[in-house]
Amino acid sequence: MSAEKGTKPWTVQELVGWTAGFFGRKGLAKARLSAELLLAEALKLDRTLLYSRWNDPVDAIPLEVFRSYIQRYVEGEPIEYILGYRWFMTYRLEVNPDVFIPRVETEELIEWIVQKENRRPRWFMDLGTGSGAIGIALARAHPEATIVASDKSERALDVARRNARTHRVLDRILFYQADFLDGLDELVDPVEVVVCNPPYVGENERQEVSPATLRYEPEMALFGGPDGLDFYRKTLEHRSLLRGKRVYFEFGLEQKERLEELFSPVGAVTCKRDMYGHWRFLSVDFHS
Ligand SMILES: C[S@@+](CC[C@H](N)C(=O)[O-])C[C@H]1O[C@@H](n2cnc3c(N)ncnc32)[C@H](O)[C@@H]1O
Repeated sequence: MSAEKGTKPWTVQELVGWTAGFFGRKGLAKARLSAELLLAEALKLDRTLLYSRWNDPVDAIPLEVFRSYIQRYVEGEPIEYILGYRWFMTYRLEVNPDVFIPRVETEELIEWIVQKENRRPRWFMDLGTGSGAIGIALARAHPEATIVASDKSERALDVARRNARTHRVLDRILFYQADFLDGLDELVDPVEVVVCNPPYVGENERQEVSPATLRYEPEMALFGGPDGLDFYRKTLEHRSLLRGKRVYFEFGLEQKERLEELFSPVGAVTCKRDMYGHWRFLSVDFHS
């Protein structure tokens, strides 16, 4: 794509059309939507406003930015990292390669929790907070609640703090850098409900993970040991800390039976399917 076609610069409409066709020929899904989102970002516009500028020429600088976005996208970078954000429920969250890109399944986990907890708990914990998606959604849904949010990655916590500030819940989320629950005993004490979307991909499933995820998303956010269950086993090592609490987990395909075996001896287990019909979520009421 040259800066000018002959003597006339590209218009918004022409750029969207050309780029959607290009992405389509490259076999990229949602070619038109992606083209629009990337161009809107290059122009620092909301996507819906593109149509009001449909016949406007695009200046050289945004065109150059847009071209670099196209390049990154066809090289396989997730669009969320190029745009710098991801919508999670109704929250626009900053994301970058320091954080896992929140997935739509996790929105269902939040819906389940909000429905089941009926605004009751005053203290939640978001274990492995990443971008802060779970903690922020819980804080917004439970206006009286305090959230303890932890992650092993200090860089992820920086992103989560910025997201919490954007969504005006920074004063109700206590962020801690910690390896699992180590050193958090006193903070976990008042917590009634722990929520965790752990790294649950098994090393034995590495080949099934998309190349874009493997290349761009943080390794630490993805892999949970040889069979993906290390994080859940770690929870059991801390079961004395979790007595009388409810813990919600997201988990991977084919992990339901093994997780039920792991957790049934320590509490009452309930499982739930996701919208695709896959068993995906688990709650454990730890015995007192
Ligand atoms: C699958 S991501 C989930 C992120 C976010 N909660 C979400 O649902 O989008 C797992 C998160 O666990 C964090 N994590 C991995 N190992 C950890 C550990 N040993 N202790 C604390 N956090 C850990 C990762 O840094 C990552 O942010």
